[in-house]
Amino acid sequence: MSISFDNAAHFYDETRGFPAGVETNAAAAIARVAGFTGGERVLEIGVGTGRIALPVAPYVQRYFGIDISPLMMRRLLEKRGDEPISLVQGDATRLPFPRAAFEAVMAVHIFHLIPGWQQVLVELARVLKPGGCLIHCWNSNDQAIDIETTLKELVSGGRAEAVGARGNTFLEESGWQVGEEEMYTFTRQQKPIEIVDQMRRRVWSRTWRLSDAQLAENVAALQQMLEQRFSDLHTSIEVQTTFHARIYLPPKT
Ligand SMILES: C[S@@+](CC[C@H](N)C(=O)[O-])C[C@H]1O[C@@H](n2cnc3c(N)ncnc32)[C@H](O)[C@@H]1O
Repeated sequence: MSISFDNAAHFYDETRGFPAGVETNAAAAIARVAGFTGGERVLEIGVGTGRIALPVAPYVQRYFGIDISPLMMRRLLEKRGDEPISLVQGDATRLPFPRAAFEAVMAVHIFHLIPGWQQVLVELARVLKPGGCLIHCWNSNDQAIDIETTLKELVSGGRAEAVGARGNTFLEESGWQVGEEEMYTFTRQQKPIEIVDQMRRRVWSRTWRLSDAQLAENVAALQQMLEQRFSDLHTSIEVQTTFHARIYLPPKT
């Protein structure tokens, strides 16, 4: 079963949004690596609140978004100006589009949420025009505390997940050919205690399947880990994050 973000729609932008101005640079990196010229039809699976769609859409002719969560897409519509975006509620494992419909497809922080991700790849290859590409984007953190990795290890008890937002070898292993990559690095300030609060509030999807007792155990473990690394959890640290946008070409048939 895929993970809908309906219950995260009201806090998603506050907790996952880029710092002011970064989205413009991230979108420019995407447009550069994809070679957008303004005439493309692009599909984003798991479009969410439009964190990526809104700044990227002005670079193309029409930007289509699909998501299983109507509440996430409602947030996108509330923020939309005149960007050329069309939305549809649906599942990325069964795309309601004909074959060869798009010059490019986008996927950002989505594959790890879909147990049937292999079927998503089949669908993406089907709807891409010949010569079209997948633009896969993700963040990596190079700072003293890697929040994503810490959370992943805590809530999974150290088990590696089949498909993560990091690593990305699953695309190559599925026969997709790696192309060029653009990166954009930015910094922001964060107090370690905020990470503990976010886990307690179940902000991260990895915590949604935990029982209250498991969550409390993880919160305590996270706080202890952070206290060992930082003398004061209430003092801001500088977090350096790199946004990656990498091109993949579908397997040759
Ligand atoms: C982590 S959010 C990412 C949103 C956006 N791509 C971004 O980077 O901000 C993942 C989104 O994928 C959606 N989603 C999860 N499973 C899906 C599926 N099978 N088909 C379409 N959307 C799905 C969720 O509802 C959520 O809005």
